[in-house]
Amino acid sequence: MIQSGYQSGFGNEFATEALPGALPQHRNSPQQVAYGLYAEQISGTAFTAPRSHNRRSWLYRIRPAAVHGSFEAMDSGRIVGRFDAPAPPNQLRWSPLPMPHAPADFVDGWVTMAGNGSSEAMNGCAIHLYAANRSMDGRYFYNADGELLIVPQQGRLRIATELGVLEVEPQEIAVIPRGIRFQVQLPDGAARGYVCENFGALLQLPDMGPIGSNGLANPRDFLTPVASYEDMEGDFELVAKFGGRLWRAPIGHSPLDVVAWHGNYAPYKYDLRHFNTIGSISYDHPDPSIFLVLQSPSDTPGVDSLDFVIFPPRWLVGEDTFRPPWFHRNVASEFMGLIHGAYDAKADGFNPGGASLHNCMSGHGPDAATFDKASAADTSRPHKVADTMAFMFETRTPLMPTAQALASPQLQADYQQCWAGIRKFFRPQP
Ligand SMILES: [Fe+2]
Repeated sequence: MIQSGYQSGFGNEFATEALPGALPQHRNSPQQVAYGLYAEQISGTAFTAPRSHNRRSWLYRIRPAAVHGSFEAMDSGRIVGRFDAPAPPNQLRWSPLPMPHAPADFVDGWVTMAGNGSSEAMNGCAIHLYAANRSMDGRYFYNADGELLIVPQQGRLRIATELGVLEVEPQEIAVIPRGIRFQVQLPDGAARGYVCENFGALLQLPDMGPIGSNGLANPRDFLTPVASYEDMEGDFELVAKFGGRLWRAPIGHSPLDVVAWHGNYAPYKYDLRHFNTIGSISYDHPDPSIFLVLQSPSDTPGVDSLDFVIFPPRWLVGEDTFRPPWFHRNVASEFMGLIHGAYDAKADGFNPGGASLHNCMSGHGPDAATFDKASAADTSRPHKVADTMAFMFETRTPLMPTAQALASPQLQADYQQCWAGIRKFFRPQP
């Protein structure tokens, strides 16, 4: 029975059933489950993780997840699982990925751009673009390598998962936990966007320190689907991403057959337009951590493996100050994308669907035109940065671009020229 709807909250202990009484009461695996269902647990953290970080769910389903044929390696297309190719420290920027000519569903449409760490070490991430023109048909997918943070830029996604259905549109994001099986349909016929595959600790909401108890992304705006299931038999295919590559197995039924579930390991979505932006009301541009939506912490306190940061519409009111992001070099590495509108630190060349990569200690910042404009701006008046939604996947360790990303026709060979017009103003005499 397909039902739609959401439960609000981040990492809550949810309980939901598509048939009345399907959820067992007071015990997880009674000898007999209602409706002839099987009980199955999926754990997303170590069994002994502290309670505040422990994630697992109990699924009550028509058949256990073990029921399928043998996996065989399949063509992984443009998915790359190793990030050891030599790469220059150049600033890099890409134009948007064109829509595919041949039929391509969500899984076919991935192109790996960069990554670090490894899925086997459960450390680091991979960054992919996707461009797809058809729904997944008779095909289901799960990712054992990492949690998927999906950022649509064009076209809605209907993501039917084992735990329920997420309807996601551009300016919303979806997070599919490691191992959860799903199928992506394209209600608009074509779709394009970004995927960050997080090999490390599960994404979580950041602590807010001096900001206090309100601000940034509010837990109540995170939506997890209610239970929904398919009772369907046929000649289907289960595709797994495991060890950096794709595998396929035949499966005789839809694996989206979970009638009821409870737990705190579940997919969710979030509307980026609900982000409560915090910023400077006196002077100086704050660090991008002020725009942090979700973080994957590392083993070092205060240092994240991966941050998901957004640059949403906001008022700039800083006085006698340079309002756009200043020139900088960071120990962190920055992969940016643009979902909607224009980004305030670049006059042109960075388009919706495009991407840029500024690696560890590679200098970057406003282009010459933006510098000139911002240096002469009247900062006695507020300015609204409107009609925009940019984001950044920021990582602790360098993001190594893939060979295909460096050879891509979308790579802008002239990107560094955006700083060529930076003039020398230095005068040794006052
Ligand atoms: Fe930057």
